[in-house]
Amino acid sequence: MPIFSFPNSWIIETRNTGYATGMNAMGLLTHRYWGVRLPRPTDYPPPIAMPGWASFNGPGQVVPEEYPACGGLKYIDPCLKLTFSDGTRDTVLLFEEASTQGEELILHLHDALYPLRVNLHYRAHVAEDLIERWVTVENLGSQPVTLERIFSAQWHLPRFGQYRLTHLSGKWLDENHLQREFLKPGLKVLESRRITTSHHASPWFAIDRGTADEDQGEVWFGALAWSGNWKITAEVTDFDSTRINIGLNDWDFAWCLQPGEVFTTPSAFAGYTKGGFGAASRLLHDFIRHSILPHGPITHKVLYNSWEATTFDVDVQSQTRLAELAADMGIELFVVDDGWFQGRHSDNAGLGDWWPDPAKFPDGLQPLIRKVNDLGMDFGLWIEPEMVNPDSHLYRAHPDWVIHFPSRPRTEARNQLILNLARPDVQEYLIETLDRLLRENNIAFIKWDMNRNVSEPGWPDAPGDPRELWVRYVQGVYRVWGELRRRHPNVIWQSCSGGGGRADLGILHLADQVWVSDNTEATARLNIQEGFSCIFPASVMEAWVTDAASERIPLDFRFHVAMCGALGVGGNLLHWSEEERQQAAHWIALYKEIRPIVQLGDQFRLLSPQQSPFSAVQYMSKDRSEGVLFVFRTHIPEPVMLPPVRLRGLDENALYEIEGESEPRSGLAWMEQGVPVMLSDFSSTVLRIRRVS
Ligand code: DGJ
Repeated sequence: MPIFSFPNSWIIETRNTGYATGMNAMGLLTHRYWGVRLPRPTDYPPPIAMPGWASFNGPGQVVPEEYPACGGLKYIDPCLKLTFSDGTRDTVLLFEEASTQGEELILHLHDALYPLRVNLHYRAHVAEDLIERWVTVENLGSQPVTLERIFSAQWHLPRFGQYRLTHLSGKWLDENHLQREFLKPGLKVLESRRITTSHHASPWFAIDRGTADEDQGEVWFGALAWSGNWKITAEVTDFDSTRINIGLNDWDFAWCLQPGEVFTTPSAFAGYTKGGFGAASRLLHDFIRHSILPHGPITHKVLYNSWEATTFDVDVQSQTRLAELAADMGIELFVVDDGWFQGRHSDNAGLGDWWPDPAKFPDGLQPLIRKVNDLGMDFGLWIEPEMVNPDSHLYRAHPDWVIHFPSRPRTEARNQLILNLARPDVQEYLIETLDRLLRENNIAFIKWDMNRNVSEPGWPDAPGDPRELWVRYVQGVYRVWGELRRRHPNVIWQSCSGGGGRADLGILHLADQVWVSDNTEATARLNIQEGFSCIFPASVMEAWVTDAASERIPLDFRFHVAMCGALGVGGNLLHWSEEERQQAAHWIALYKEIRPIVQLGDQFRLLSPQQSPFSAVQYMSKDRSEGVLFVFRTHIPEPVMLPPVRLRGLDENALYEIEGESEPRSGLAWMEQGVPVMLSDFSSTVLRIRRVS
């Protein structure tokens, strides 16, 4: 039983962690503890009670309140801010009761005067040492209430520590840079205001005391399951308290909660480990594979995507030729990207008209799909449902369907506008149009793209507050995608937003994998993939071998990089020599052998490409019997001796063989002494690891 309820206090335990909250003597729901699981309930510290400090700081300012609302003498960053119908903007939350249901605890609070209930939900994910938190707000009165900020959780770090924040930053073509910085008094804000998750930051954090590394040290980490505007604030207060708020972004946000209505926040997940950043990632990987992904822990087929080969010049002939070459190499899934639909000859036109372009596919997609299936491959297709080109049948029929302010010009990006998926009629159009496409064609895989961010965020006919757009848009995306999934449960879906612009735990309830970046240059990709792996398992990380920088980076290297995720090929096979295609077939065959280890095993980041041009990553099967080691060298000035690569995750006492090494050795020996690797510039290797006794 992971939830322990006592009068006025609660403890949530997972396999290795404990989390405690309770009412303090001042009547405030106060955070008590988050860290390693303690042997007895009485081991957890009591809630701090302080009456406040001088006339300038009330009790809510000096104690770590579990879910502080904006009000009273509190100047800390609150979780909840709202306006009652009489204009009162001060919320006083009092504890009402607690209820438990299996692994879920709900703490019910209500306002001291107004008929408003705030429920804090907790769920223990015992095996993965994660706690899930979300909040529901019920309007029990007869007047509307305007929500202006409603975070999913505030996570408190132990008091009196100095903490370091790790997060990801980036931009299009350059996602997932690891950033590490010490937190100082004040607020550090990470966020997206782009209506989607964004390439620029990720709704994920990891906090340590400045001493953790990949293998050891206390790390508190968390992520938000939301694919729209999000916000993380890390605050160090003047009273030595460090806390992390995480949830919907309150920037330009409002939600008019009508009488009788309930608002539910997205879920925030957080965990604690003593095993460093590597263990934190592996806990998230397991959780995502087992509890988030719609198909659970499955492996993905090796795909070919024709985008970089043919761009918009897609037709039966060009795709058939590529499909034949792909099938010969051992590809299992052939994906036609952008350019197949009505009027799509460039990025100027066509988005919105989701039927095959008759000039390119006179008999529809079926002849090509049959050919692909006859070659032994599944067929996949690209769509970008949320978008419309002004030059399209859809826009001409429904110019009012896009996000816009009537008085402003509609800013185009990549010649396209965003359909307002907050509108039920837009949702219905997309569900019916895409459902027909999936019903009429044998499509096994869909790549769902989104190639711009929002501008002029207006919703002229909004039934409520137009600022609800930020949330209702994402709910609309989830509804359309969820309904299509329900109608076509066997389809595999990929989330793409110009690469990694929409990678988060929310979209992974719908998408089986993510296209990580439009940057397919293999050395850049090493960095991007490492950052991505902080949160997501390799099975989610679609990675292609392309022709980018092929004059400098050998094909083997490019394959090895892509083999660290869900392998795909995206180069122009028409330009590949016979020898290159044989090389490709060799790596694809090897990948199929190691695929379960890479996609479903434990990942260890051994040497970071963000820190040195010599990098390594290892994957081990869950039973530690088999593994695979990838080592890369980009450029190191000669002469340089490369250090042996110290392995991880082996049974210390078992004997392991490493490919290329003459003698088996104990797991401990490989982990302590490492595997010697000789590499020249822009070279790489992949080595199998096998337990022999
Ligand atoms: C952006 C994607 O990331 C690319 O892979 C490709 O699908 C293009 N869009 C097509 O327009």
